[in-house]
Amino acid sequence: MKRHKIGLVGAGNIGGILGLLSGLEGLGDVVFLDLSEGVACGKSVDLEALAPVMGLSGSWKGGSDASLLEGCDVVIVTAGVPRKPGMSRDDLVEVNAKVVKSIAGNVSRYCPDAFVICITNPLDVMVGLFQRESGLPTSKVVGMAGVLDSARFRAFLAEALGVCAHDVTTFVLGGHGDSMVPVPRYTSVGGIPLSEVVEMGWLKASELESIVDRTRNGGAEVVGLMGTSAYFAPAASGILMAKAYLRDEKRLLPCAAYVEGKYGLEGVYVGVPVLIGAGGVEKVIELELSGEEMKLFESSVGHVRELNGVLEGLALEGKI
Ligand code: APR
Repeated sequence: MKRHKIGLVGAGNIGGILGLLSGLEGLGDVVFLDLSEGVACGKSVDLEALAPVMGLSGSWKGGSDASLLEGCDVVIVTAGVPRKPGMSRDDLVEVNAKVVKSIAGNVSRYCPDAFVICITNPLDVMVGLFQRESGLPTSKVVGMAGVLDSARFRAFLAEALGVCAHDVTTFVLGGHGDSMVPVPRYTSVGGIPLSEVVEMGWLKASELESIVDRTRNGGAEVVGLMGTSAYFAPAASGILMAKAYLRDEKRLLPCAAYVEGKYGLEGVYVGVPVLIGAGGVEKVIELELSGEEMKLFESSVGHVRELNGVLEGLALEGKI
């Protein structure tokens, strides 16, 4: 079987952890591509030395020449600027759109068959831009947000309940921003619906409400604490999606995917549950949403559309 090649575009905080986790998971050979050749090369030299210590078989190379991407099976994009305290993800739209556009061109030139996972924010808008600019099929371009947002929801619930976070399953839908929609009705703890957990008195309704709120602001909480965006959990979430594709795992995961004809949507990237396997996004799952859930979902989609409008405006003004 051929060894897989993983392209990590952006070798910053998230990129570095992606490189480490790719090695620990045995995904294959990693190339880091970054504007800063020194950062890309430095991280690869450091990880090459980690391999013998940890008994890993992967290799790491780095540079700033896009031809490094030649033949990549998976590309994970984190290039761009993260937010600083007080900023929303949306504030990054202009600066990161330029970056994503140039990367899309290089991916379609050097590895048009790759499965691409975008992490750069504002996520839903950046992944849509990447797909349009690269011309790759929508099934092969996906955004990482829902796995991370759901993980935060799972972790906060697990902490409150005193259970292992693995035993909490859930979905967070919609755009990767303050308007995201954690869905308690599709949440269970060891198979017990969350509504019953609340009925049992194990979790107060008010506690659930503040956990939903904390989930929505989970990214901002980290930025506020350490002055820059989170990187461990975002990287782990990206690797989970890459693994699902490379190993044809048929994982059911919430991702920013292209939705056309489901949820009443006509062609927009937004967070929904999808099936990821060797075909990329093999299926978009349409959940039955209650009136209130649908209202929240539609408002979140509306926000993504608005930001897409901002992007179109910037393009018309020749700013991106
Ligand atoms: N091509 C390649 N690399 C680039 C480019 C470009 N055009 N522009 C910027 N970079 C690189 C930077 O040099 C930097 O090393 O992207 C890297 C980004 O790393 P960090 O600043 O550490 O940001 P990180 O925390 O990894 O987040 C990256 O993911 O979650 C999102 O909001 C976050 O948009 C941000 C992105």
